Amino acid sequence: MFVLQEPLKFRPKCRVELHVHLDGAIRYETIWEVMRQKGLKLPGSGSLADLRAAVQVKEPQDLCHFLRGFQIFFPAIVGDLAVIERIAYEFVEDQARESVAYCEARFSPHLLLPNQDTQPNFLQNEGGTRINGSVDGITESHSVSNDEVDVDSILNAVLKGLARGEEDFGTKVRIILCCIRGLSKWSWDVLRLCEEYSNRGVVGIDLAGDEGHSKEGQSAVESPVELAVFEAAKEKGIHRTMHAGEAGPASCVKLAVEVFGAERIGHGYRVIEDENTYQMCLKENIHFEVCPHSSYLTGSIKSLTTNSKRHPVLRFAEDGASFSINSDDPTITSTRLTDEYKLLYKWGFTEAHFSRLNFQGAIHSFLPPEEKKALVELLREVYGIVDYTIPTPTSLSPATTRTPSPPPKPSVTFGTWAERA
Ligand code: NI
Repeated sequence: MFVLQEPLKFRPKCRVELHVHLDGAIRYETIWEVMRQKGLKLPGSGSLADLRAAVQVKEPQDLCHFLRGFQIFFPAIVGDLAVIERIAYEFVEDQARESVAYCEARFSPHLLLPNQDTQPNFLQNEGGTRINGSVDGITESHSVSNDEVDVDSILNAVLKGLARGEEDFGTKVRIILCCIRGLSKWSWDVLRLCEEYSNRGVVGIDLAGDEGHSKEGQSAVESPVELAVFEAAKEKGIHRTMHAGEAGPASCVKLAVEVFGAERIGHGYRVIEDENTYQMCLKENIHFEVCPHSSYLTGSIKSLTTNSKRHPVLRFAEDGASFSINSDDPTITSTRLTDEYKLLYKWGFTEAHFSRLNFQGAIHSFLPPEEKKALVELLREVYGIVDYTIPTPTSLSPATTRTPSPPPKPSVTFGTWAERA
């Protein structure tokens, strides 16, 4: 049988993705169909193409602009367990098509609750009004009674969709639950869910949201609740990652690692603006979840204040930093994991880089030890690497693994988005 005709479930899978937002990775077709069914106002002429064009971000601006697409389709999914389960199931199929063996998808179940009294900025209309419930006066016709929907049922719907997907397509997906900056009232409940569902598919906690107002030298006091939640998570053995150094400066990365005890950093590009913090991350073997297209479209690369006009991921690769390649929000960027790999390939990445970063992803995944070992074994098999054992943190000191004569460096400069595209 030809490999391409093999059922998706049995096709070889060789990638590890650690940073993708489940609610930012929804098929346009699904959004379009559900919005039509519910009588929600579609952008433009109401066509699928117009929906896609309205949600997609094509030019870099800032993170808030990047997140505005969510406003359009969130009303279609909030509080609807059947749709949420469907999204999770379809997500696994899409990941299987991207050759993903293992993925950690993240989301905030609280954001998907119906009838909320507060929303983060990016989910509010210009006038600051709530967007769930109705859009432009058109009322949703939910099949599920909103009263019955709580965060547990939302999480269960996701886990159910993922389990069905894993069974059908052979890609394993686990969940990271997000606390949201500025919405501290949910953070302790996020920790509760992480604990209660630790044996049912939830593997870690994240802090997401706009760090745009984070200034150089800011203190942890600005998010005391999340700090306490992260400290409690560490105590309970719950894995921790944190969005930092994307819109915010290198000091946010330092704070995430040294104060919040984050094991991985979501994005982290601006860490290279501060050599001390960067060296500390290398020494501590901190893993960076790099999302190439999103890094441009959120404006975080444009805002880099370094002399070198090179993408931080090139520096990470040269320095042997631990990082993975991720798609972040495919619905917004309109890119899939393969597009991210293609971009890096253009910048000089080789197959060796790609296999290394997938092993790094596996090693830094939040899977329990036995499952992590099995994942590394699986990668060894597909990459044909005979002799590879999981390095312990002490034997994996990137600072000492640099070779005296490094291979030719990929030397790519970046200017405007247009030049890069
Ligand atoms: Ni993200």
